[in-house]
Amino acid sequence: MKRDVRILLLGEAQVGKTSLIMSLVGEEFPEEVPPRAEEITIPADVTPEKVPTHIVDSSEAEQTVEELQDEIHKANVVCVVYDVSEEATIEKIRTKWIPLVNGGTEKGPRVPIILVGNKSDLRPGSSMEAVLPIMSQFPEIETCVECSAKNLRNISELFYYAQKAVLHPTAPLYDPETKQLRPACTQALTRIFRLSDQDVDQALSDEELNAFQKTCFGHPLAPQALEDVKMVVRKHVAGGVRDDRLTLDGFLFLNMLFIQRGRHETTWTILRRFGYSDTLELSTDYLFPPLHVPAGCSTELNHFGYQFVQRVFEKHDQDHDGALSLVELQELFSVFPAAPWGPQLLREVRTEAGRLTLHGYLCQWTLVTYLDVQHCLEHLGYLGYPTLCKQDSQAHAITGGCPLSQWPGPAPFWQLLTLVCLLHPPTVTREKRLDQEKGQTQRNVLLCKVVGARRVGKSAFLQAFLGHGLGHQDAEEYHKVPASYAIDTVQVNGQEKYLILCEVDADSLLSTSPDAACDVACLMFDGSDHRSFAICTSVYKRHYMDGQTPCLFVSSKADLAEGVSPPGLSPAEFCRRHRLPAPTPFSCAGPGEPSTAIFTQLATMATFPYLVHGELHTTSFWLRVTLGAVGAAVAAVLSFSLYRVLVRSR
Ligand code: GTP
Ligand code: MG
Repeated sequence: MKRDVRILLLGEAQVGKTSLIMSLVGEEFPEEVPPRAEEITIPADVTPEKVPTHIVDSSEAEQTVEELQDEIHKANVVCVVYDVSEEATIEKIRTKWIPLVNGGTEKGPRVPIILVGNKSDLRPGSSMEAVLPIMSQFPEIETCVECSAKNLRNISELFYYAQKAVLHPTAPLYDPETKQLRPACTQALTRIFRLSDQDVDQALSDEELNAFQKTCFGHPLAPQALEDVKMVVRKHVAGGVRDDRLTLDGFLFLNMLFIQRGRHETTWTILRRFGYSDTLELSTDYLFPPLHVPAGCSTELNHFGYQFVQRVFEKHDQDHDGALSLVELQELFSVFPAAPWGPQLLREVRTEAGRLTLHGYLCQWTLVTYLDVQHCLEHLGYLGYPTLCKQDSQAHAITGGCPLSQWPGPAPFWQLLTLVCLLHPPTVTREKRLDQEKGQTQRNVLLCKVVGARRVGKSAFLQAFLGHGLGHQDAEEYHKVPASYAIDTVQVNGQEKYLILCEVDADSLLSTSPDAACDVACLMFDGSDHRSFAICTSVYKRHYMDGQTPCLFVSSKADLAEGVSPPGLSPAEFCRRHRLPAPTPFSCAGPGEPSTAIFTQLATMATFPYLVHGELHTTSFWLRVTLGAVGAAVAAVLSFSLYRVLVRSR
């Protein structure tokens, strides 16, 4: 919405432009006026729409055509004033003033115009008959007002209409020639209808209508008003109300009715509440709210985010089978301009017979949030997150991104949390460097880069993570179009973590400016052909040897006979020298699901990075993980005993 409004008065000499302005300001009719009034600014708080408003006079006697055109260019709305008692001044609207205002803009956006018939005190009847043909000829004319500067009739109304024409313009919503909503307006209202249709029955029940009304206007409809609305729709639109529920046709008709009756601010309120700008697009501010992600921090959905996307899932799981079929998914995507997730989706997460389970769906959201938080914000925006959750932006759905005022409930636990947040202003997840110092990560989403030479079995490894071994019925399909990512959950010390596997060609990590950062690196070589081992050692030496990232060498295709090592260190010897866990054999051959132990191991190494460095054997590594957990418990018992000793000694 515009931040201020500039109103220009144009028209023939002596029609009363200057007098209208002076009457508005002085609240009485001035007998003597200068040819041109000074520009005046009405402060926001005294205008009906609470927007600062500038009123600009014009005078052909004092200004050149160029100067007038310059003023027209600056104006948001033009009032073309005529004298109701002088027919000639009406004719000039068509022949002179409208061409001057919008003549140069054949197709582009036109400046809205208000026709103002002044000196109504001099004419008993109305000038409407003469003016109506002009109004239907020029769609940019918003409305026509008859008034009198002399007896102060309709003066403030005139300026209110002008202000409204700027703040709630009709042109983007409605085509007066066809008497129909414009396509962009229909499209936006259709999306709003779908978001408000909670049970996806293509109609709004009383309950849904009330929720909608509350979202847009802050209060529910009175029961009688609800019935009246439905009655009006029933009378005018066949199929506008079905089983006592408002259909999409009925909803669109209602909005058209608002507009035709000059109440288009109602439709604008609805559109703006759901994120639309003056051009009826979802505004950039709405789709991409500011979210500060400091370097080294990752992005995750928080419980607001997961709760919301799960509600969306449940809404669209029409047959309640715990999964979205292709049709159900398309219905979910109908509020997006284009499907947000491409066909590779079904290769990145676990699915069940081609359907997306809730688990796979949440994994997909987690992946998008982690890899491309801007897309995540945009997608949540299309789903109506801020409007439906009554929050001011989608940034609240991202870990730690919510301001303290939004924490739910007054319970002491939340107050405590609030205090903690106050002491540590939340951003996104904790910076990785801090995790490494503390030896444990608080992140719930961990990134593992799977690095190796061509054809060592990286894609097969990713698919094995999603439960597809080489013998899986769809394996061939999956391997034809491999995805670069796979995400699933893994238990680490009894806690569920999301693990993202990202396939990286080793060559790319040895090129000029590669990004090798991750929570754990999985360096893969072909166990049946040790030549691929050398490239792993190069990547290790270049990126990970001197860093903090835990590394695991994986020897793939373990079902095949072990290859002969070329001269130099064997993989096992190399790992021993570098104090790395011994190479872990892995195979995804065979008909069953591949073993998941290796994924748990990778996720555990990512969660406890400090335990890995300096460990010679994976067994002692596991022991340390377990001991770590026991150690924490022992410390708790100790401090409790200490507390009892202290209490007793008092
Ligand atoms: P220019 O500056 O020459 O373009 O004229 P203007 O459009 O500013 O008109 P202005 O306000 O100077 O008024 C012209 C004459 O009409 C003055 O004598 C006003 O007193 C008179 N007048 C203005 N408004 C009204 C009105 O509402 N009723 C009547 N009866 N006279 C009016
Ligand atoms: Mg004047």
